[in-house]
Amino acid sequence: MTTTTMSYQQMHEWMHGMREKAPVHFDRESNVYAQVFGYAEAFTALTEYKDFSSDLSDLSPEKPEFELFREGSFINLDPPVHDQLRGTVSKAFTPKVIADLEPRIATVTDELLEQAGTEFDLVEQLAYPLPVIVIAELLGIPTSDRPLFRKWADTLLSQNIAADDVVDDALVEAVLPTMHEMNEYLLDHIRSRRRNPGTDLTSHLTLVESEGRTLTDSQIVGFVGLLLIAGHITTTALLGNSAILLDERPELLPELRANRELVPQAIEEFLRIRSPFPRLARKARHDLELGGVTVPAGTPLLLWIASANRDTAQFSAPDALDIHRHPNRHLAFGKGIHFCIGAPLARLEARVALNRLLDKYSGLAVAGEPQFFNPMSITSAKYLPVSGSLA
Ligand code: HEM
Repeated sequence: MTTTTMSYQQMHEWMHGMREKAPVHFDRESNVYAQVFGYAEAFTALTEYKDFSSDLSDLSPEKPEFELFREGSFINLDPPVHDQLRGTVSKAFTPKVIADLEPRIATVTDELLEQAGTEFDLVEQLAYPLPVIVIAELLGIPTSDRPLFRKWADTLLSQNIAADDVVDDALVEAVLPTMHEMNEYLLDHIRSRRRNPGTDLTSHLTLVESEGRTLTDSQIVGFVGLLLIAGHITTTALLGNSAILLDERPELLPELRANRELVPQAIEEFLRIRSPFPRLARKARHDLELGGVTVPAGTPLLLWIASANRDTAQFSAPDALDIHRHPNRHLAFGKGIHFCIGAPLARLEARVALNRLLDKYSGLAVAGEPQFFNPMSITSAKYLPVSGSLA
C-alpha cells in the first residue's frame, strides 16, 4: 500500500506509527520529501519562515496556466511579496466585515435547511452551498455558477501528489484544462469589475494601490482563485466532519443544544481531530536541522498537521474527542505568517450552521455510506447521507 491509496483510518495509523518512531523522517537516498509528524517540529517549520519557504514553484510544472495562477496566490509566496498581497486583502477582510456577514450567513443557512427535509445529503444541501455562496457573494461572482466551481475544486483535489510521488506529468496534463478554464473565467470577471466596479472584494482589488501601483489582472487571478477555492472546500470539509463526529458521539448533540456556548470550542476540537488539510508543504531555504534530522537546502518538507494535532507531547489523550479541551492549540489553520486569513469566516459559518442544525434537529445521524475525497489531500466527505429527527 502506498500513501496515495490509504483510507482515513489507515492514514492516521500510518501517521501514528511514524510519529512514534521519530518526529521527522528523511532518508536522503530514497526520499524526495522530508516528512514532519511532531507538533513542535511542525510548529517550528510553520513559524520560522526565514528557514522554511512556502514557494515550491520549482517543483510544479512550468506551464503558463500554473504560472498565471501562482502570481497572486500568496499562500505560496514568501515575504516581501506575500506580506504586500496579504496586507491588501486583509484591509478588505477585517473582523468587522466578517462579523457583519452573520445575518446573511444565517439567512442562507435557513434557506438551505428549509429545502433539506429529514433525509438528505448534508454536503449537497448545506456543507457545500453555504460557504461557496458566502465567498462568491464576497467576491461578486455569480453564485449560480457554483456547479462550475465545484467541478474545478473536485478536479484540483483529485490530483493528489502524495508523499511518495514526485510531480507526475499525467496528473499535470489532467489538471491543465481546469486551470485554463478557471483562469479565463476569473480574468473575465476581473476585467468586467475593472470596467464597472461594485462594492465586492474583486472590485476592491482592482482599485487598491500597493506601493503606488494598482494590482495587475494576472496578480488578481491567483488571489481571487485562492479565496474562491480555499474559501469553500475547507469549510465544506469542516461542516461534514462535524456531522460525522457528532454521529460517532450522539450524546454530544443534547449537550451542545443545552449549552450553545460550547459550540465554538466543539468546532475547534472537530478541527483538531479531523483536520481538513492533513498536511502543508514547505521547502528548506538552506541546510538546516529539524527534530534531530539534517535537511539539506532545497529539500521539500511535508508537514503533517493532522499528525501534529494528535501528538501526545502537546495534547493529552489526543485520539479522544473532547469538546471541553482547553487549551486547544491545534494547527488546523496553520500558524505564523500564513495563518489562515479566512479562519474567522470559517468559524462563523460553522458556528451559525451548527446552531441552526441544533435548532432544527433533535437527532442527526449518518444514514448510509458516505463518499470521501482522498484523505491525503483533504479530509472531507463529498457525499454524506444523513437522517434528522425534527426538534
Ligand atoms: C475550516 C476551514 C479552513 C481551514 C481548515 C483552512 C486551513 C488553512 C491553512 C492550514 C492555511 C495555512 C497554509 C500554509 O501555511 O501553507 C490556510 C491559509 C489560507 N486560507 Fe484557509 N482554511 C479554511 C478556511 C478558509 C476560508 C473560508 C478562506 C477564505 C475566505 C481561506 C483562505 C485562506 C487563504 C487566502 C490562506 C493563505 C494565507 C497566507 O498565505 O497568508 N481559508 N488555510
